[in-house]
Amino acid sequence: IQILPLSFLSAADQAFVTLATTEDYCMGALVMGKSLRRHGTTRKIVVLISSSVSPEQLNSLHKRVFDEVVQVDVMDSMDRTHLSWLGRPELGVTLTKLQCWMLIKYKKCVFLDADTLVLQNVDDLFEREELSAAPDAGWPDCFNSGVFVFRPSLHTHSRLLAHAAHYGCFDGGDQGLLNSFFKDWAVKDISKHLPFVYNLSSSAIYTYLPAFQTFGHQAKIVHFLGAVKPWHLRYDQSNKDSYLDQFLNMWWAEYRSQMPPISGEVDGNQDSGDMLHVSMKLLMRSMTNGHHLTHILILSHYSLHHRRMWEKGHVDYMGKDSFENIKKKLDIFLD
Ligand code: UDP
Ligand code: GLC
Ligand code: MN
Repeated sequence: IQILPLSFLSAADQAFVTLATTEDYCMGALVMGKSLRRHGTTRKIVVLISSSVSPEQLNSLHKRVFDEVVQVDVMDSMDRTHLSWLGRPELGVTLTKLQCWMLIKYKKCVFLDADTLVLQNVDDLFEREELSAAPDAGWPDCFNSGVFVFRPSLHTHSRLLAHAAHYGCFDGGDQGLLNSFFKDWAVKDISKHLPFVYNLSSSAIYTYLPAFQTFGHQAKIVHFLGAVKPWHLRYDQSNKDSYLDQFLNMWWAEYRSQMPPISGEVDGNQDSGDMLHVSMKLLMRSMTNGHHLTHILILSHYSLHHRRMWEKGHVDYMGKDSFENIKKKLDIFLD
């Protein structure tokens, strides 16, 4: 018997998306993807890459981390003036992020920068609408484009490109462009303001330490915003003085960790996996994560292998899948 929350059923057309055009950012993307898996996401995980990513790097974007690796054309603003105001001449290529609107096989997506680390399950982000994002710590009337909810659409994609061609982007990267495109974000709809804990900028903590002391433990996604990234810094377990050190150590711990199991196969080791058990765990987990259970589906029981056979239409009518067996399982469950 499998009981699925609606959020699980719709999971196939929803995805987390990141971008990596260089070896370094591939490393970041990998860690971010692993952290999503570790916290049991039920959504797909997609990475956009450029053609300069080598086959070895591609290999390292391990199949079990990313459901899809999609090669996209790089877009670069080449806008040296605005990028120099940002102090980040290398960020012209972040315009490539806009290609995420082309992922139209998904209905809703959450973009996460490759320099983010997920600390808790954040599947509830899919309950938000385009364009939801957290305030930028430097200019809170702008959103930070390291974490945002969007709806892939070719129409929006071409409007974004036209907007870029016409108005440029005021920081030379995607964040300036997206903020001038979704320009009423600051004032129109508070539900599109993600709490800061969904995009906690590790470098901005010190500007408001009392708030961090009070709310920091609720952090869901930490963002290593700025020119210095975790992969530039050394892993040192004795570094526990500052919060940044602790986040940094968490990043390196994730980097070195074993690949976490994919949600759904969580505890479902293929031989002994009882789908009821796995589903109950999923159910309990979604409840703890605050999901609303809006739909209950009773499908089948037994191992994942058996489930896959069932899905392919190989039904064991006289044996495991006999009406008597299904009824027995239902009775046990209802009891
Ligand atoms: N990025 C990339 N290649 C680059 C620069 C950036 O793939 O050369 C992507 C990557 O996903 C990264 C995002 O664009 O996380 C935004 O850049 P970054 O995180 O460095 O900007 P910050 O958040 O520090 O302003
Ligand atoms: C910001 C964002 C980053 C974005 C960059 C360029 O600092 O954190 O995601 O790519 O600006 O616009
Ligand atoms: Mn970033």
